[in-house]
Amino acid sequence: MLFEQNRYMAVVFLDQDGIIKYLNETYLEILDLPRDQVVGRHVLEITPHSRAYITLQTGKAKVGYEWIVNGHHTLGTALPIFDGDKVIGVFGYTMCLDLWDGKNILDEILSNLNLYKDEVHRLHTAVYRFEDIYCASKAMTDIIILARQVANHPLTTVLITGESGTGKELFAHAIHNASRRCQRPFVRVNCAAIPENLLESELFGYEEGAYTGAKKGGKLGKFEVADMGTIFLDEIAEVPLNMQSKLLFVLQDQVVERLGGVHPTKINVRVIAATNRDLEKMVRSGSFRQDLYYRLNVVHIKIPPLRERVEDIRIITPHIMCNLSRRLNVSARKIDDSALSLLCKYAWPGNVRELENILERSLILAEMEGSRVVYSRHINISDEEIDFNLSEEKSLKNMLDEYERKLLAKTLENCQFDVPGAARQLNMDPSSLYRKLRKYGICIKKEFSIN
Ligand SMILES: Nc1ncnc2c1ncn2[C@@H]1O[C@H](COP(=O)(O)OP(=O)(O)OP(=O)(O)O)[C@@H](O)[C@H]1O
Ligand SMILES: [Mg+2]
Repeated sequence: MLFEQNRYMAVVFLDQDGIIKYLNETYLEILDLPRDQVVGRHVLEITPHSRAYITLQTGKAKVGYEWIVNGHHTLGTALPIFDGDKVIGVFGYTMCLDLWDGKNILDEILSNLNLYKDEVHRLHTAVYRFEDIYCASKAMTDIIILARQVANHPLTTVLITGESGTGKELFAHAIHNASRRCQRPFVRVNCAAIPENLLESELFGYEEGAYTGAKKGGKLGKFEVADMGTIFLDEIAEVPLNMQSKLLFVLQDQVVERLGGVHPTKINVRVIAATNRDLEKMVRSGSFRQDLYYRLNVVHIKIPPLRERVEDIRIITPHIMCNLSRRLNVSARKIDDSALSLLCKYAWPGNVRELENILERSLILAEMEGSRVVYSRHINISDEEIDFNLSEEKSLKNMLDEYERKLLAKTLENCQFDVPGAARQLNMDPSSLYRKLRKYGICIKKEFSIN
């Protein structure tokens, strides 16, 4: 018989007197009894609360009742067997291990699902808040006011531009965290790091069997993962032109279609895009779609480079030092005034990220010396690097003069203080060089030393 082998179904036949005539192996396993101790006995002797026996008495089928046999949770059915009007037996079957395992499996799946949900949430969480953005400059304070306002408009697209390391990602996090979407996912996509041929499936997902090698069950795209939350399209300028048009469509209609899919899915996602490239220039040169640029550029947050906001260096430095000291477990937490002034004179091509790196190095050097204070000697910026930088106290004219003075003095020294030779090298008239040397008070004798 089919049910004889069925691991999940226990089967029993009772005759008209309630005597067990047959039962399968699964039932014996549940009862934990040998066949000869069961077959031929009355059903109530083996299972005193037998529902099959009630069916035998009433002639009424009982379907899908829950009961516990020998500690096993089961789902039973008892069907009367008729000969005309007369009940001549009962066929009972009970889904047992199946139900028991099923509940366990379901519990396990649910707890796993919660684990994965937590993990997805952890992976897609914005960590920074506006409170983490340190600044004192008017430019940055104004930008923060604008960014806080835009955070309140949960569907407004934001474009963040600025040189590398200026804090674009920091702002994207802060906007998400200050918005009503803060409990929902914040999904960062680094458009520069995803190979061109995978970008579409990463962003929009695919259905099972969409292409060879596609994962079973398909794949959720980042837009779907970010539903009700924020998607942060970092390095947006790196999106190839053909994908730019698809992106535009998604942004306009808030609808995504998975690769190989037939039904578009409605989404509700705020888009924040960032780049350190000049998108307007890219639009002019045809490498970035103008319509996409307009669509992204609803609110534009332009973060100025650090060298243009020297006041911020004074504020950011102690905070970064404090965080770094904790992370690196070093004791130095203070910076000497002249070291801080040195930092204020440097041009920071790598902006705050470079400041973090230089401070990290200086903290380690100070720690190695056993110093609790960071001094200028711990800061790895050479005088040459400082010389070429604009600082807040100097005008451009002063800077150019200073640069000229250094250049003339250095050339003169290289030419063994031969003024006509230096003039030739500098491609200028010797009389002009003499005039300038006088102007800058540069000594033309050999004992002159630069600085
Ligand atoms: N105003 C600030 N206050 C504190 N930390 C800052 C500030 N601006 C930037 N940072 C820190 O500088 C580092 C670089 O910031 P972020 O990654 O946001 O820059 P980015 O503009 O996205 O750079 P990239 O263009 O290279 O991706 C981060 O560690 C960030 O926390
Ligand atoms: Mg970034």
